[in-house]
Amino acid sequence: MSPLKNDLFLRALLRQPVPRTPLWMMRQAGRYLEEYRRTRAQAGSFMALAQNPELACEVTLQPLRRFALDAAILFSDILTIPDAMGLGLQFVAGEGPQFEHPLQSEAAIRRLQVPDMAHLRYVFDAVSLVRRELAGAVPLIGFAGSPFTLACYMIEGAGGTDYRRIKTLMYQRPDLLHQVLDINARAVQVYLHEQIRAGAQAIMIFDSWGGVLAHGLFQEFSLNYMQRILAGLPREHEGQRIPAIVFTKGGGLWLEDLARCGADALGVDWTVSLARARRCTGDAVALQGNLDPMALFGGERAIRAEVDRVLSDFGAVAGGGHVFNLGHGISQHTPPDAVSILVDAVGQASPAYH
Ligand code: CP3
Repeated sequence: MSPLKNDLFLRALLRQPVPRTPLWMMRQAGRYLEEYRRTRAQAGSFMALAQNPELACEVTLQPLRRFALDAAILFSDILTIPDAMGLGLQFVAGEGPQFEHPLQSEAAIRRLQVPDMAHLRYVFDAVSLVRRELAGAVPLIGFAGSPFTLACYMIEGAGGTDYRRIKTLMYQRPDLLHQVLDINARAVQVYLHEQIRAGAQAIMIFDSWGGVLAHGLFQEFSLNYMQRILAGLPREHEGQRIPAIVFTKGGGLWLEDLARCGADALGVDWTVSLARARRCTGDAVALQGNLDPMALFGGERAIRAEVDRVLSDFGAVAGGGHVFNLGHGISQHTPPDAVSILVDAVGQASPAYH
């Protein structure tokens, strides 16, 4: 494998000094890019795109051709695991993900098993291909959903719900929810392990819905399982440290707990003050975030001002430890020019903090 030409992202995650703040964006490959929309049309559907390693690789690289980003993230989805478990994932246009066979009975839960990773071969093939095509330009991030976030989709059967089904199960039959989470955690652990083996240089767990849980129940039903995954995952591959990022959207009030879950870095959304986050994590982890994705609709002056606000909130630290990102995925309506301004602004303003 080619040596890395730009390792700022990995260095920042490990809180090593960097000359400027590295930047990537959640959902950086996606519908806001016309070349993505073309490739997706060529593939026929979102899943056909994700399941074709050549096209998934192409789409992974598209944002890097336009913008000077410091990391690539595998083009795939967190819902590949429940799909491989046989739940029948479909993306209905305009409606988001839906499962044909959601977990809505005790019998369905009892039948659930860790899927054979052979069904996810297309993901690992895409990782190897992207690594080859990147040729060491920037590091590649592999990812998975948190056990709880996957369970939300598996039990609700779709996104955009009020979490009534999963919370009913949690309060009525916590044993059954724990069984689902246990299987999900084992599946995510082998899935991330295989991505590392195929060439992922950092990994990220997306806990997009952990923030809907009550205090105490977040720790029991989401955090515990992420901690278990990280404890069981090899954190070195071919002599290189593989940093792990945990992103709990809406998890700002649990940063002390999150900092102890075994992650090298925490992703934070825009409701969090990075200065406060640094204080309450005791500098035990690096931080990734946290520009409001909607700030990209504010025009050049607002984008530059908000970038300055994020950078100065994190502040100057000898050891670094900040990866610039959005506080959640980029909106599909974002003008690509706004991303160019963002990249320029972080490049111009961040060296003063190092
Ligand atoms: O960040 C990247 O560029 C890598 C690719 C990536 C996708 N999904 C591609 C995608 C990643 C890391 C994800 C993670 C993901 N998927 C999460 C966690 C992050 C978050 O946003 O909270 C979640 C909850 C999902 C589930 C999911 N997949 C939803 C809810 C949707 C539909 C919503 C939407 O934006 O339309 C998807 C589809 C999806 N995954 C798209 C992309 C680019 C859009 C699909 C399309 O092309 O129509």
